[in-house]
Amino acid sequence: MQNRLKEDLIRAGCLGRSASRRVETYAQLDARHGVTRPEGSAANKEIRDYAVARMREAGLRVSWDRVGNIFGLRPSTGGDTGTVMVGSHLDSVAGGGMFDGALGVFTALEAVSRLHDAGFENRRPIEVVAFTGEEGSAFRPTLLGSSVLSGALEAETALRKQDDAGRTLREVLTEVGYLGEKDRDLRGVDYYIEPHIEQGPVLAGEGISIGVVEAIAGVTWLTLSVTGEENHAGTTPMAARRDALVAAADIVSLVNREARQMVAQTGLPVVATVGKMEVFPGGINVVPGQVTLGIDIRSTDASAMSRLQQTVVAGIEAVAVQHGVSIDIDAPSVHAPQSLSAEVAAVIERAAGAAGIKSRRLSSGAVHDAQNLARQVKAGMLFVPSVAGISHAPLEWTHWEDVEHGAKVLTETLKILSGGVPEDKS
Ligand code: HGY
Ligand code: MN
Ligand code: MN
Repeated sequence: MQNRLKEDLIRAGCLGRSASRRVETYAQLDARHGVTRPEGSAANKEIRDYAVARMREAGLRVSWDRVGNIFGLRPSTGGDTGTVMVGSHLDSVAGGGMFDGALGVFTALEAVSRLHDAGFENRRPIEVVAFTGEEGSAFRPTLLGSSVLSGALEAETALRKQDDAGRTLREVLTEVGYLGEKDRDLRGVDYYIEPHIEQGPVLAGEGISIGVVEAIAGVTWLTLSVTGEENHAGTTPMAARRDALVAAADIVSLVNREARQMVAQTGLPVVATVGKMEVFPGGINVVPGQVTLGIDIRSTDASAMSRLQQTVVAGIEAVAVQHGVSIDIDAPSVHAPQSLSAEVAAVIERAAGAAGIKSRRLSSGAVHDAQNLARQVKAGMLFVPSVAGISHAPLEWTHWEDVEHGAKVLTETLKILSGGVPEDKS
């Protein structure tokens, strides 16, 4: 494969990695050293700066909007309108992998560079994009930047969001130099393509290089605060306690039990996780007075997702009574499941076929910016395999041959969508 894309991903993989050494092979991965690039971190600024520099090197016109979404425009050579937007995100979860998000942005840049190198005349404008705060790891909701671009979230509302340290998104983007002046929206954009790692086991399990995504799961986030009574661990009789952590522990088991039961009893495709919990005051000799926790519920079936949410909330109310604690649940943050454009799926499949690369259709259990854009433009995703289906973890890996297949298929897809390559009448 051309080294340009591999070098971009290796360099990007150093940014935000504890012990930031270069990782070039699967064997060099270290389960103790993941990538952490939340919005507002120095590493997030570094990768933003790196991506902007590479977009400028590729001759793109670079800009960013009020919430820091970065755009690199290759104007049309034929004067046509109807931009083809292509990209993903640069932020990461804490201790995540080096391909989630970054693969999409740098593969998009590589594909546009290959079209340029080949002297391709794109009749439609092509715009590379890197969305702010896709992971929701610093500022909620998840998919923040694309929610603003697609009009689902006001820029001003997003800019007032605060991270766990109480910093607003506006302060953080000002600090890293990516608080733009202009609002952007999707007027003039006809297509969005997002290249991404699968983050699941299907493609790697079947030895297939390209996934053509038909639908993306919805996600509901519930943020809870459990309040009991902080007290002395030695002098407080067991019967007199209102222990917030014991109540929270019951909630963690409840979430897992209800999701497992729903799958077992109905076969509906639901998952639920408690991945974040904070205990206050956190002393070994103090009965916890308060616990905050976050619940992530997902399904490609909207009614199943809402049904599981209702069951979990009813269970939480019962836990509150049983333990004599109070439990506040913030307003749920919900992204609905979303099917993707059949037209774009067919073009990705055609591009894979033209490149002689095997592909298969599948849906995505991970959420993506594409599900926001799909409500207004013709959106599609192409997946490349995740080794052992691992993601959101330091051992996340995609083999370089599959990365190259993704770049080849994306380049061909952009050619077809932007250049008016004759319809495939087969
Ligand atoms: O959480 C997700 O599914 C995505 O990786 N942000
Ligand atoms: Mn992602
Ligand atoms: Mn992710």
